[in-house]
Amino acid sequence: MNQVVLVTGGSSGIGKSICLYLHEKGYIVYGTSRNPARYAHEVPFKLIALDVLDDTTITPALKTIIDAEGKLDVLVNNAGIGMLGSIEDSTAEEVKEVFETNVYGILRTCQAVLPHMRERKMGLIINVSSIAGYMGLPYRGIYSATKASVHMITEAMRMELKPYGVHACVVDPGDFATNISDNRKVAHAGRSGSVYMEEINRIEAMINAEVAHSSDPLLMGKAIEKIIRSSNPDINYLVGKPMQKLSILVRRLVPKKWFEKIIASHYNMPVK
Ligand SMILES: NC(=O)c1ccc[n+]([C@@H]2O[C@H](COP(=O)([O-])OP(=O)(O)OC[C@H]3O[C@@H](n4cnc5c(N)ncnc54)[C@H](OP(=O)(O)O)[C@@H]3O)[C@@H](O)[C@H]2O)c1
Repeated sequence: MNQVVLVTGGSSGIGKSICLYLHEKGYIVYGTSRNPARYAHEVPFKLIALDVLDDTTITPALKTIIDAEGKLDVLVNNAGIGMLGSIEDSTAEEVKEVFETNVYGILRTCQAVLPHMRERKMGLIINVSSIAGYMGLPYRGIYSATKASVHMITEAMRMELKPYGVHACVVDPGDFATNISDNRKVAHAGRSGSVYMEEINRIEAMINAEVAHSSDPLLMGKAIEKIIRSSNPDINYLVGKPMQKLSILVRRLVPKKWFEKIIASHYNMPVK
């Protein structure tokens, strides 16, 4: 019987590409959106309502799948948002909003599906983090912090779930050409006279150009399918351009201050 896969955030970018790829390969795919009616006509897979901020949408979404298919084999926690802003400018409310989506959102969906997966003594959870989760990127420190949290949560979860036959892993994308730039939160103060405003605008233009000219998110579909087919998934998978993947190795190998200089010079920031 075909495997049933739930992908949060199936209306756009990486999540949509994952859904399209898996659907093509014959998986039973359920993508999600906070507004499925807006996108359902554009996609060949099922798109159901789910907001990772709202438990009352998660339980019915899971019920829809179990009622129709009798099971859920794979959960891909892909829904997420970017954030731009200096650490000084980012208010607690703004930070909370990004953690709510990128971290608590993943916790909510995991907690909803795990009883079902444990009972069946099988299942796979793939959490989408980021290469940004390995380093505090300037003006994206909050985003990096949410993605680093996803690494730690998944590492712990893997060990907790092993006795129940459920696997968990992280996928770390590099830059992919999606709508992430349009949907990114920006710390309000950074747009209204902050001392960092000029730098934020410069860095934003730079990262938007990088994202616009980056990899095709279809690559993520291929990577996810490979993980689903693996009998014993690894802890994490890097997916992206070779230089982006290499940055993780360089960070491990060189003294921390050298790595800081590499990142600062990439963003044309002072290196001393
Ligand atoms: N693009 C990159 O370069 C890149 C790099 C590294 C990691 N990532 C990660 O990849 C994931 C997907 O990003 P993307 O680039 O594909 O961005 P995107 O094009 O902006 O898509 C974001 C998706 O997340 C969904 N979403 C946002 N908030 C949600 C919420 N509260 N509840 C449910 N769904 C929500 C959106 O669905 P609706 O708006 O329809 O609800 C949309 O489908 C994110 O976790 C991101 O951090 C992206």
